[in-house]
Amino acid sequence: MTSGAGQGGAGRPAGAAAERAGGLFITFEGIDGAGKSTHIAALAERLRSQGCEVVLTREPGGSVLAERLRELLLHEPMDALTEALLVFAARRDHLQRSIEPALARGAVVICDRFTDATFAYQGGGRGLDQRVLVRLEAWVQQGRQPDLTFWFDLPPAVAAERRAASRAPDRFEREDEAFFARVRQAYAQRAAAAPQRFVRIDATGTRDAVRAAVEAALAAHPIR
Ligand code: TYD
Repeated sequence: MTSGAGQGGAGRPAGAAAERAGGLFITFEGIDGAGKSTHIAALAERLRSQGCEVVLTREPGGSVLAERLRELLLHEPMDALTEALLVFAARRDHLQRSIEPALARGAVVICDRFTDATFAYQGGGRGLDQRVLVRLEAWVQQGRQPDLTFWFDLPPAVAAERRAASRAPDRFEREDEAFFARVRQAYAQRAAAAPQRFVRIDATGTRDAVRAAVEAALAAHPIR
C-alpha cells in the first residue's frame, strides 16, 4: 500500500493518536436532526476560552476540494459505492490539509461527522458491504481515528419532527424513517465496537441537559 509518507502524518500506526501529547481529535455523530450543531459550537467556545487552539470543521467538507465534493454528495444522485468513494476522497484531502497538520501542532480538532457516518449512512443506510468501508478506512486514514466521539442518539421519528421544522432537506435528509433506523443501528454497532472512544448522548433531552452531558463526558474522559 502507498503510505503517502510525509503528507500530514500518514503512516502513523493505529492507536498512536491517543498516546500523543497535544492534539485531540473529537467528532460528533448522529442521525440528521439530532441537534449536534449547537453543541459543537458551544464546546469549541468553551475550549477556546480555556486557551486551547480549536479547529472546528465538518465532513463531508473541511477543505476547498472536500467542500466541492460535499455539494455533489448532498445533491447529485449516485449509487452507494460512488458515495463512499467520494466521501473518502474528501476525507483524504481534509485529513492531509487540515486535520493532521492541526493535530501535529497540538490543536483540538472538532469535526462534525467523520468515518462513523460513512459506516452509518453508506453501510447501514444504503446497505453497502462494510468490508469495502473497512478497507477504504484503512487506506485513507492510515490508523488515524478520533480520540473521542459524541454520538447524539435519538429515535428517528423524533429526529424527523425536528428536521421538518428546519431548512430544505438534502438527498440524505429526504430518506424515510426506515433508512434512519438503519443508520442509527449502524451507529450503535460502531459504538459497541469502540466503547473507549464513544460517548452516547441522549439527544432527546433539553438543550441544557445535552450540553451538560457533553461537558460531563469530556471532563470524565481519560484523555482530558
Ligand atoms: P450534516 O452533517 O447533517 O450537515 P447539515 O447539518 O449541514 O445538514 O449533513 C451531511 C450529510 O452527509 C448527512 O446527511 C450525512 C451525510 N454523510 C454521509 O452520508 N456519509 C458520510 O461519511 C458523512 C461524513 C456524511
